[in-house]
Amino acid sequence: MGRCWFLELLFVGSYVCLLCNVGVEGYPTEDLVKRLPGQPKVEFKQYAGYVDIDVKHGRSLFYYFVEADHDPDNKALTLWLNGGPGCSSIGGGAFTELGPFYPKGNGRGLRRNSMSWNRASNLLFIESPAGVGWSYSNTTSDYNTGDASTANDMLLFFLKWYEKFPSYRLRELFLTGESYAGHYIPQLANAILDYNAHSTDFKFNIKGVAIGNPLLKLDRDTQATYEYFWSHGMVSDEIGIAIMNDCDFDDYVFENPHNLSKSCNDVISEANEIVGEYINNYDVILDVCYPSIVEQELRLKKMATKISVGVDVCMTYERRFYLNNPEVQKALHANRTNLPYPWSMCSGVLNYNDNDPNINILPILKRIVQNHIPVWVFSGDQDSVVPLLGSRTLIRELAHELKFKITVPYGAWFHKGQVGGWVTEYGNLLTFATVRGAAHMVPYAQPSRALHLFSSFVHGRRLPNTTKPSIDE
Ligand SMILES: *[C@@H]1O[C@H](CO)[C@@H](O)[C@H](O)[C@H]1NC(C)=O
Ligand SMILES: *[C@@H]1O[C@H](CO)[C@@H](O)[C@H](O)[C@H]1NC(C)=O
Ligand SMILES: *[C@@H]1O[C@H](CO)[C@@H](O)[C@H](O)[C@H]1NC(C)=O
Ligand SMILES: *[C@@H]1O[C@H](CO)[C@@H](O)[C@H](O)[C@H]1NC(C)=O
Repeated sequence: MGRCWFLELLFVGSYVCLLCNVGVEGYPTEDLVKRLPGQPKVEFKQYAGYVDIDVKHGRSLFYYFVEADHDPDNKALTLWLNGGPGCSSIGGGAFTELGPFYPKGNGRGLRRNSMSWNRASNLLFIESPAGVGWSYSNTTSDYNTGDASTANDMLLFFLKWYEKFPSYRLRELFLTGESYAGHYIPQLANAILDYNAHSTDFKFNIKGVAIGNPLLKLDRDTQATYEYFWSHGMVSDEIGIAIMNDCDFDDYVFENPHNLSKSCNDVISEANEIVGEYINNYDVILDVCYPSIVEQELRLKKMATKISVGVDVCMTYERRFYLNNPEVQKALHANRTNLPYPWSMCSGVLNYNDNDPNINILPILKRIVQNHIPVWVFSGDQDSVVPLLGSRTLIRELAHELKFKITVPYGAWFHKGQVGGWVTEYGNLLTFATVRGAAHMVPYAQPSRALHLFSSFVHGRRLPNTTKPSIDE
């Protein structure tokens, strides 16, 4: 009897090894990233490659997948998307915000981001829609796109990506992103809820939505920009008052000339002039990086690094240099059709529908919450582009509409004994949190606070309201 068992085990053993040759747990070996140029050694696995969305059109989306740095089999799957519309989640999220590596100051290698979100979850970054970064279509009319087709393609992407990574099919799924991903992420969640409602077998195991400095309602978010300028001394009191008196932002539309009155347009132009060009609107505290200087330094193999408040404000230039290195593209299996333009953070080929930024996202957030899926809206408090002043009001109004009670009163949350920001929660499901000292790109200027916020979110925990250190951050 014992012998039989042994033989059977041997047989099972060799069968498993046959699968091993195909790839780890069936994952595609052709997508495995062995090592990126100038990359420090790490223990976790990285994959990158293409998922064909429409073979007839030749439309394909590029992804970069980073397993959790520890015990990936028992950690959730998190999607991260940057905004734009038309900007790269790989250039943004993966390589300057929450991924495991940042570019080196000379643009010729990578350094470890010790606060990477892959300490808490497996991370998936997608360049979406086709036309962004290394995602492309052989049919140029596909570049005329908008919110609906972007969400559809993302849904198809997931169904096909799960074929490459079958063990992630039933894994807890969290959808996250920032800025215009305030449209992408809720709309994808909406498409997933539709899919789940109609599917008789496979259902997405969607567990949460978190969006940072998200565009949710253009008219309110635009007004907030001018309130922010005013409250931060970036315009005069006269201008601030004139804007609030002369401008009816309820009628604001994305397309120029924005459907505002002449007096409002005039005073807004004046405000923008006073704010000036020498400020980083995405983080009004940070100094700016001067492109002409940094580009020369990179050519001369010098360090472009310029530190302001602990942040390398020239990182975006180092990143562009790194991602345009043909060796880097080869290691990532990117640019397989030799695209006729360089990699850039935001697409130059996309023709995105001008009406879609006007879409009000709050009804979609409402549906998500009504499906008992937690929604976190977080906000770097140094951002003037989609400032907390708009998001905070919109979330309160949403809570009111849902008849949600305040379940965590507005108050400070703590990280490493300091205030990480302020937070409130409604109906045990809807959270609004600021991140103190953070930019529009929250993890960029505050990586440690951002990781704490993210890891609380994926573990279904509230942010700590005392200075006592939490067990894991
Ligand atoms: C797109 O066109 C290239 C050749 O130009 C071809 O190799 C490829 O298979 C086509 N389709 C996709 C999805 O890339
Ligand atoms: C433009 O503004 C007017 C009021 O000034 C308003 O009646 C109209 O609906 C607005 N158009 C759009 C497209 O929002
Ligand atoms: C793709 O590769 C070609 C060279 O084959 C290069 O000229 C181009 O800049 C690359 N484009 C992107 C988007 O990486
Ligand atoms: C902190 O949170 C706990 C648990 O949610 C709550 O019981 C307590 O009242 C809160 N303390 C303060 C000071 O808000």
